[in-house]
Amino acid sequence: IPLQDVRNFCFIAHVDHGKSSLSSRLLEITGNNGRENQKIALENTLAVERERGITVKASAASMLYPHPSAVGPDGVILLNCVDTPGHSDFSSEVARSLSFVQGAVLLLDAAQGIQAQTWTVYEKAKSMTNPPEVILALTKIDLDVADPINVALTVSEWLSVEDPESIIPTSARSRIGIVPLLDKICRMVPPPSRLPDDKFIEDNDNNQHLRAQVVDSWYDERGVNCLVQIAAGTIAEGDRIAIVTGTKSTTTSSSVQSFSVQEVGIVLPHSVRTGKLRRGQMGYVRFGLKDPSQVDTGTILIFHKDVGKDLYIPSINQSIINDNSADSTKSVLFASVHPLAEDGFEDLCDAVDRLGLNDKGLEISRTSDGGGNNSESGGPFLGPGLRIGFQGLLHVEVFRQRLTDEFGIDAVVTPPKVPYHVTFQPSKANNLTDPIKRVVEDLEDWPGFGEKFRVEEPMVEVRLMSPVQYAGAVMELITKKRGIDLTTKPIDENIWMFQAQMPWAEVVLNFHDMLKTITGGYGSLGTFEADPPLREARLSKVEILLNGDEVGPLSFVCHTPNAQSDARIVCKKLKDVLPRQQFVIVIQAKADGKVIASERIQAYRKDVLNKSGKMVGGGDISRKKKLLEKQKKGKKRSQQSGKVTLSQAAFNSVISR
Ligand code: GTP
Repeated sequence: IPLQDVRNFCFIAHVDHGKSSLSSRLLEITGNNGRENQKIALENTLAVERERGITVKASAASMLYPHPSAVGPDGVILLNCVDTPGHSDFSSEVARSLSFVQGAVLLLDAAQGIQAQTWTVYEKAKSMTNPPEVILALTKIDLDVADPINVALTVSEWLSVEDPESIIPTSARSRIGIVPLLDKICRMVPPPSRLPDDKFIEDNDNNQHLRAQVVDSWYDERGVNCLVQIAAGTIAEGDRIAIVTGTKSTTTSSSVQSFSVQEVGIVLPHSVRTGKLRRGQMGYVRFGLKDPSQVDTGTILIFHKDVGKDLYIPSINQSIINDNSADSTKSVLFASVHPLAEDGFEDLCDAVDRLGLNDKGLEISRTSDGGGNNSESGGPFLGPGLRIGFQGLLHVEVFRQRLTDEFGIDAVVTPPKVPYHVTFQPSKANNLTDPIKRVVEDLEDWPGFGEKFRVEEPMVEVRLMSPVQYAGAVMELITKKRGIDLTTKPIDENIWMFQAQMPWAEVVLNFHDMLKTITGGYGSLGTFEADPPLREARLSKVEILLNGDEVGPLSFVCHTPNAQSDARIVCKKLKDVLPRQQFVIVIQAKADGKVIASERIQAYRKDVLNKSGKMVGGGDISRKKKLLEKQKKGKKRSQQSGKVTLSQAAFNSVISR
């Protein structure tokens, strides 16, 4: 297929606006996904996606579609289509997908219209160094409540579309608009450009210098797989290839590692081995790679014999909003992850390394060995763990579930924290002579009692959309969660947009759930970089103690005026979720050296006098006394060792305060 007949595009949209359903219809109409294959497509999704009905990973599929615009002899267009996730926690997948396509189909639910994430993905597409052609389509027009005309008018006003009639109405359910959409993709999305040194001659693969761009990678039972897009040349099984690091292939080093290509195929979306991939095609490659950190989005594969030659190395199409670019994903939350199994740390590390290959939103670093003194590493309560950066709370949940589903590892994740910028002032308590500024992600490093300090917390710009009748409640929520610079704008006569600067720490807790609750499910939230990104705040660390011992992973930071009420809520929730023991558990919350809340879980008394329903020791009173005495001693011992098992529910008490 000539390069002019290739179209690379992705679907982008707000959560649930119908990307996956519409891309399935495209597969169906192009014959990729007949009844039988539909099952395969389903198997290709992650268990967590099927269970939750959300997309967390961008997934690609290639299709052939006969179209008059094709210049090749077969008269078909090769469509490389990528379905992206809608939830903001997985927006690194959207950025990654946008970095290798020339077209983006922005979908809007014909009943809901513009939602918060619609802006985010639209702006992301427009912010690419080479912005893709954006095609707009309405979805779900079969719904009774759909209002396609009004939605098209509003969308054209807000997203500067000249002709509202150019927006394609579709319904995946009723199979409406699928052919017009495919037709528009074929006509409007430009083909990938030819590399400047591409001397392609039809049917002469030997003349070619391979440039294959890695767009994704994942592990399966056979090792590391890379999804690649062939920018020039051909890759075939048996070829010897090398990985290009940096932007030039001219690193004249004969020591550059050579790999033998083991398997090559296309993705439909199930994998089909073809043995070869040519220029313009997208597909998977396996080449015996052991160290997954050697490849990333944008990495280029070339022939090993070309190492040192002056080849043109294409660079990744980046977002000019630097922090949102595909290769620089910034974590907004940090938490430590601990295996439930006693000797499970090495298995956890292994699984997280593999998961990290497929989840570019994760930022992985090891913690100390958890010997006991470092409370963040879990200490005596949790054992060793890994410190991980996440994109949001849903990302944390999906990560935990993927560990279980895909690697059989049960783990607990401590309450995530945002990175605080703390300036420690010189004082007797810290022996400093000059102020020192540190980024505190681990509350172990928070200033101790009596130390003087200033804190700046990370901020985020939020854009909320809500039906106008909930405007009062939305504004109240934003203010309660310490939002500032609040502005409102009507989008149309029913929907308002609210913009504000808010502390990340407030947004990542249960802000989204609260918004959904107060707006009857209609509110939506998008987040953008704040200006300025940090803001000074009055914050306190609240320590949680169980029977007098601080449990580091349960500590949290909150707005100082809320410390007591938050502490009370957490203590109460912990009381409900911690299992009763043979000893009393005293739960205390402490801030600034003072106990500000406490609860008590009574011990349960094991009936030592009644074993399997029979009275032990008959009526002998001294025997009974002895047994009770023994029980008392046992209780004292276990109380000293304070062995309280912390489940995920205990950590969730802190998150959901
Ligand atoms: P995320 O990737 O998780 O953001 O979701 P998505 O945008 O891929 O949406 P998906 O295709 O999963 O559809 C979301 C919901 O809308 C599902 O319950 C679908 O059944 C429903 N849906 C999708 N397309 C249509 C349609 O054409 N008509 C109707 N009535 N419902 C639809």
